[in-house]
Amino acid sequence: MPKIIAMAGKGGTGKTTLTALLLKYMLGRGQTPILAVDADSNANLNELLALEIRLTIGEIRKALKGEMPAGMSRDQFMEMQVHQALIEEQGYDLLVMGQPDGPGCYCAANQHLAMTMDHLAGNYAWIVVDNEAGMEHLSRMNLRAIDHLLVVSDPSARGLLTACRIAELTGPLAVEVGQQHLIVNRAPQPIPGALQAKIEETASRCNLALAGVLPASEELAAWELSGRSYLELADDLPVVRAAFAAFDRILS
Ligand SMILES: Nc1ncnc2c1ncn2[C@@H]1O[C@H](COP(=O)(O)OP(=O)(O)O)[C@@H](O)[C@H]1O
Ligand SMILES: [Mg+2]
Repeated sequence: MPKIIAMAGKGGTGKTTLTALLLKYMLGRGQTPILAVDADSNANLNELLALEIRLTIGEIRKALKGEMPAGMSRDQFMEMQVHQALIEEQGYDLLVMGQPDGPGCYCAANQHLAMTMDHLAGNYAWIVVDNEAGMEHLSRMNLRAIDHLLVVSDPSARGLLTACRIAELTGPLAVEVGQQHLIVNRAPQPIPGALQAKIEETASRCNLALAGVLPASEELAAWELSGRSYLELADDLPVVRAAFAAFDRILS
């Protein structure tokens, strides 16, 4: 069974950035094969990896509701489509979820798809999920348990409060969560004492293990503009080092 790592946190906190950096970290350590899942309906992890999306799971789900090509069963068609949707790279594959179904749809297409996803998951040692702000996709993806939930926060009191609420939200989720970690991103350097105290207080109160505090990085912003893959970022960039130190704490 693969180990599952999933991102959580409100929009713009750095979930996708950290997913790309986590992939870089794991690939560098041979923690492979990895299935990277972009579970944001407004998918953009592929951009940070300089990859083109061909087909999303949402599109497959739609196609499954229509006519099948002649001589093909729904199962065969889906298996083929999922393979087409999988972007295969060295050490990892990327799967893009795309638009979710409307609420309350328990159609056969979803069940077929969940089974195929289950089957696919068995090919990997790790699954890394870049999640959108809500956690809906997590329960939809038929994941039984998340080993590590990484809650990403901005460095503000309200941001930390949101991170705490997200941590508490996982309780009623259908999926079981192993460890919950807090990563504070884009923090000013040096960190003001009051902010550091607030971060530590939030982590302990909200049952989050503090994995790390990452600096705001102009290099990162410039890299994003360049359109180059984050896997090619220099290892000695302060934000990359801070992220790797956080991943060391989480995965060791
Ligand atoms: N440590 C950082 N320093 C500077 N910019 C950052 C940092 N982390 C993220 N960003 C920028 O913030 C924006 C939002 O990040 P993103 O990873 O897309 O957030 P999310 O996936 O949570 O919505 C992006 O433009 C990204 O480049
Ligand atoms: Mg994102």
